[in-house]
Amino acid sequence: MSALELKGVTAGYGHAAAVRDLDLAVSAGEVVALLGPNGAGKTTVLRTAVGLLAPSAGEVRAFGRPLPRKVEKNSREGVILVPDSRAIFHQLTVRENLSLARRHRARDLDAVLDRLPRLAPLVERRVGLLSGGEQQMLALAKALLARPRVLLVDELSLGLAPLAVQELLPIVRTLADESWVAVVLVEQHVDLALSVADRAVVLHHGRVALSGSAADLRADREAVRQAYFGGHAPEDALV
Ligand SMILES: Nc1ncnc2c1ncn2[C@@H]1O[C@H](COP(=O)(O)OP(=O)(O)O)[C@@H](O)[C@H]1O
Ligand SMILES: [Mg+2]
Repeated sequence: MSALELKGVTAGYGHAAAVRDLDLAVSAGEVVALLGPNGAGKTTVLRTAVGLLAPSAGEVRAFGRPLPRKVEKNSREGVILVPDSRAIFHQLTVRENLSLARRHRARDLDAVLDRLPRLAPLVERRVGLLSGGEQQMLALAKALLARPRVLLVDELSLGLAPLAVQELLPIVRTLADESWVAVVLVEQHVDLALSVADRAVVLHHGRVALSGSAADLRADREAVRQAYFGGHAPEDALV
């Protein structure tokens, strides 16, 4: 059974569909990179997968059950979105930000900080004083406190230097490997994303332009490039 499954999903804003007839399944312990140019529909997929947007066609299932309409409920089920807005308060300290996250015990916080050792010495620091990479670690920490079983990560590396990205993405891989979390990773850094993902899907104009194992896509960057520009690879190219 898939941890997360989108079947024939069409979703968008008003009358405009931003994603059309999308199939996507992610298993526990698997990292799927969701790639594609700006405006391809990546964020829309994540919003639909967490229940922020209702699909106009198709369905979303988490652990075999239809996704409830309420985001709150989905977060209790363990479907957690790390939004591209980061959703953290710059005037507050790291600890204060984390204390606003969903109700948790002190030892949950300790466990999360164990996973993010770079954040541990910064807990009393105001978030506005952190580097971009440290702020993203905080965004991840908030998500981890919610005990994700399905983690949807939207451009964690937005605006970060490649070095910071190299530090962040392996954390997501470890979560999948050690805690059996199903991860959808939206990323602009294609090579880095493919280096931690098991599979990848390239969206273009709301449709799947290419999908395959991360290893196959790494070996055929030309196909990935074409998919970014809207070319469709031959059916059997990479699957
Ligand atoms: N809140 C919104 N209202 C109307 N249109 C939107 C909204 N958010 C995104 N869109 C449109 O939906 C399409 C897909 O956007 P998005 O999912 O954000 O793409 P991506 O995350 O791949 O950059 C784009 O054409 C975008 O302009
Ligand atoms: Mg986006």
